[in-house]
Amino acid sequence: MVQRLTNSRLANLAANDIYTACAAFQSQFKVITGRARARFAQRDWHGMQTDAAERLDIYRRVVEQTVAEIRNALADRLTDALVWASIKAVYSGLIAECDDWEIAETFFNSITRRIFTTVGVDPQIEFVDTDFETPPTQSRQPVYRTYDRALDTAALITTILSDYQLGATYENLPRDAQLVAEKIDAKIDALGAAGGPIRAELAAAVFYRGKGAYLVGRIRNGAQSIPLALALLNAPQGIFVDAVLLREREVSILFSFTRSYFHIEVERPYDMVRFLRSIMPRKRFAELYTAIGYHKHGKTELYRDLLEHLAASDDRFEIARGQRGMVMAVFTLPAYDLVFKVIKDRFDSPKDTTRQAVMEQYQLVFKHDRAGRLVDAQEFEYLEFDRRRFSAALLDELRRVATQAVVVEAQHVIIKHAYVERRVTPLDLYVRESDADAARAAVVDYGYALKDLAATDIFPGDILLKNFGVTRQGRVVFYDYDELCLLRTCVFRALPQPTSMDEEFAGEPWFFVGEHDIFPEELRRFLGLYDALCDTFTRYHDDLFDVRFWHAIQARLRAGEVLDIFPYSQSERLAQLQIADCNEHLLLQ
Ligand SMILES: Nc1ncnc2c1ncn2[C@@H]1O[C@H](COP(=O)(O)OP(=O)(O)OP(=O)(O)O)[C@@H](O)[C@H]1O
Ligand SMILES: [Mg+2]
Repeated sequence: MVQRLTNSRLANLAANDIYTACAAFQSQFKVITGRARARFAQRDWHGMQTDAAERLDIYRRVVEQTVAEIRNALADRLTDALVWASIKAVYSGLIAECDDWEIAETFFNSITRRIFTTVGVDPQIEFVDTDFETPPTQSRQPVYRTYDRALDTAALITTILSDYQLGATYENLPRDAQLVAEKIDAKIDALGAAGGPIRAELAAAVFYRGKGAYLVGRIRNGAQSIPLALALLNAPQGIFVDAVLLREREVSILFSFTRSYFHIEVERPYDMVRFLRSIMPRKRFAELYTAIGYHKHGKTELYRDLLEHLAASDDRFEIARGQRGMVMAVFTLPAYDLVFKVIKDRFDSPKDTTRQAVMEQYQLVFKHDRAGRLVDAQEFEYLEFDRRRFSAALLDELRRVATQAVVVEAQHVIIKHAYVERRVTPLDLYVRESDADAARAAVVDYGYALKDLAATDIFPGDILLKNFGVTRQGRVVFYDYDELCLLRTCVFRALPQPTSMDEEFAGEPWFFVGEHDIFPEELRRFLGLYDALCDTFTRYHDDLFDVRFWHAIQARLRAGEVLDIFPYSQSERLAQLQIADCNEHLLLQ
């Protein structure tokens, strides 16, 4: 007969199993992340895309396997609260040796939330707060490298560029060092003499994403600190510096919540996000963890941040501003820049999608290149809030349209499933409420958003203004995913010419319209832009109404080309590399 283990022995084994599984996750994550350097050096953009998708899959796979093992190991004691309190205590001891203890805490939470499907949170079985208010281990090496300016700025930049091993040679290092130095010197001059030595502090890790590699840090000029990001590209003739970003706003856009996650090799994410936060103080830790690929831990941090906000304020959940969704019910906290999106029980006509299909669309966006234009959404389950924190109008609405996703109890509101994402200003409201210049700029960027999405094989489906929003950096982004599709699957058609009066004045299309057909000439009608704003849009983006634009991009995508989109504007690109006749982001040849 097999001897039954004591509770403490069992807890010990289970804690070790979870610990080993977390280490396996980290090592698989690091193997893929570590490939980025070679992908960049070899210009293997398809390889980079595959890696990005594969890396996003590891977490779920490892968690599922671990849950199955733990179910087996704990058997009839699977939900024994005492056993789990011991497992958590042993685990806490094990991870106190790790440089990525906070990632390990989140991993543990993922396991217990699967097993218990906990409503709300339970500090006995998950790390609601971290066990480590201060880091349990010491950093052995600094997260950034320091370079002192001895001679001039060009020499400083030469030293920096030569120091990072990118696996390929520079096309013309002295030229780039000179151009970068000119920009930095101009910036230093503009800020006025601060005195003191000038030095650069740059993250030791290189940030890889898509076709780019980025060196990220700051310039110290005495007491002044200037953000610095060098954007590197690798052309057939060699690596070159494509842009120098010297403002917090620009570096923030590089790290936007609408971009896919960076691949960076880092031993202590804790130190790295703190370094990044010193450069971008307005970004939450949650966003920075997510930006470097630890999106699950980003979610933990986001949840902790939300709890803190609720504890420190009287903020109440309200219906989000803007047009109500036919598919999603959306609410927000006025003083906190997130929205909560729950899937409605029934979808108003003409929507004929399903809950499952909507979730698959969000999953598609999670895996896809978000191009700086698709808002990242975190999926939460079984959130529990005090009912008094909800406005009466919102409670009414949720009880009316979202009974599958939301349960309203006497004391609590339980959100069984929600997507949580950054709040932006819906574009329809923005163009109505802003001054003429801001509205025009937004409308122009809206066109570029459509083009960036097209370049990354996305057609948003529902292109009405209400489905786009404006970020605090003034960028136009898209958030309504239920009709989004891959551009390659769309059939772009020119409107057939009518051959008779009957056809010409027919109220309905007199020709066959397939399920995936899109008539670019008709897009103008959908924009809902009038007068001066419509003229502005047309001046910059007339090509969007021409079927040839869409066919040309489809052809390039089908030929396997990975099209360029840049996380910075043309004006930030170094002069000699600008291509005269390209529009802001997309080169359509
Ligand atoms: N990230 C966001 N920031 C601010 N408001 C948002 C955000 N996401 C959604 N909203 C608001 O909620 C509304 C509904 O959201 P969304 O468009 O995603 O839902 P939907 O049901 O798919 O819409 P539709 O009926 O257009 O298909 C939007 O019109 C907008 O007003
Ligand atoms: Mg919508």
